[in-house]
Amino acid sequence: MHLTSAPAKIILFGEHAVVYGQPALAVPVPALTAQAEIVRGGSGLRIIAQDTGQTLPVNVDQAHVDNALTLMAALTLKHLQRPAPDAAITVHSTIPLASGLGSGAAVSAALGRAIALALDTPLSDADLNMLVYEVERMHHGTPSGIDNTVIVYEKPVFFMRGQPLEMLTIKTPFHILIGDTGKKGLTRESVGDVRKHYEQDPAGVGTQFETIGEIAWAARHALESGQIDSLGELMNRNHQLLRDLTVSSPELEALCDAARQAGASGAKLSGGGRGGNMIALINPAQEAAVTQALYAAGAVRVVSTLIGAS
Ligand code: PMV
Repeated sequence: MHLTSAPAKIILFGEHAVVYGQPALAVPVPALTAQAEIVRGGSGLRIIAQDTGQTLPVNVDQAHVDNALTLMAALTLKHLQRPAPDAAITVHSTIPLASGLGSGAAVSAALGRAIALALDTPLSDADLNMLVYEVERMHHGTPSGIDNTVIVYEKPVFFMRGQPLEMLTIKTPFHILIGDTGKKGLTRESVGDVRKHYEQDPAGVGTQFETIGEIAWAARHALESGQIDSLGELMNRNHQLLRDLTVSSPELEALCDAARQAGASGAKLSGGGRGGNMIALINPAQEAAVTQALYAAGAVRVVSTLIGAS
């Protein structure tokens, strides 16, 4: 038996503006993962989606299928120029769906790695990243590419659309809590609404994107120089701008307010918004109080993670 995996991700700064060329910062969240388990044998390639109980036969000649798993499998086989292996690949994920944690990209990445392993054929991270992006594009419209990049490379990234990949240096590790509203994040819808606002007022909304970009640059400098104290205020300012772009929600506001009141030095929504997750910057001593406050304010799950520890 062989196992491959890929982590969840969380965006720290810059979501939405990243679609318009501004920088964004994102990190892997290894506490949550997608995994693929390969059992060789049988006839042809079968993908078993453990979480839904579906078994999906893969038709290699049909890359334009409307299922993300079989699409990823077909694209990977085509890219590797290999026939499907005789194997069953079981895919399982602990990453909640549609919550801004990159569950789709992580499942695709783990599956692509499993197919390459089943074929004993190397697949570089750069090629895997391109294939996962292709699946994201077919399923999500116009993604910036940040999700697949951080998930495939499993490293903190400073991401700018169309620019060479830059890993992010984090001098001093820091703690965040990830609070889940329990409502589905509506990334496609929120990205579409932000586009409408931008088209109605390119100058005004363009300035908001630029300000978010400046915050992302400031956050990068703070992380590189270990000035963690300044991150909280940057998170609060970034959240305010996302709220102005209409991508927050009453649930996200409640969790961000509760985290700040319980002592977090900053909080913001993360990802597409309108639901999904928020993040709060904390000292370890505040973890219990902020966690309790998040649950009291309606969080359905709180994940604690240390960012930047190698
Ligand atoms: O909801 P998520 O975590 O998939 O993040 C979407 C991030 C956006 O900037 C809103 C869109 C994108 O493609 O970058």
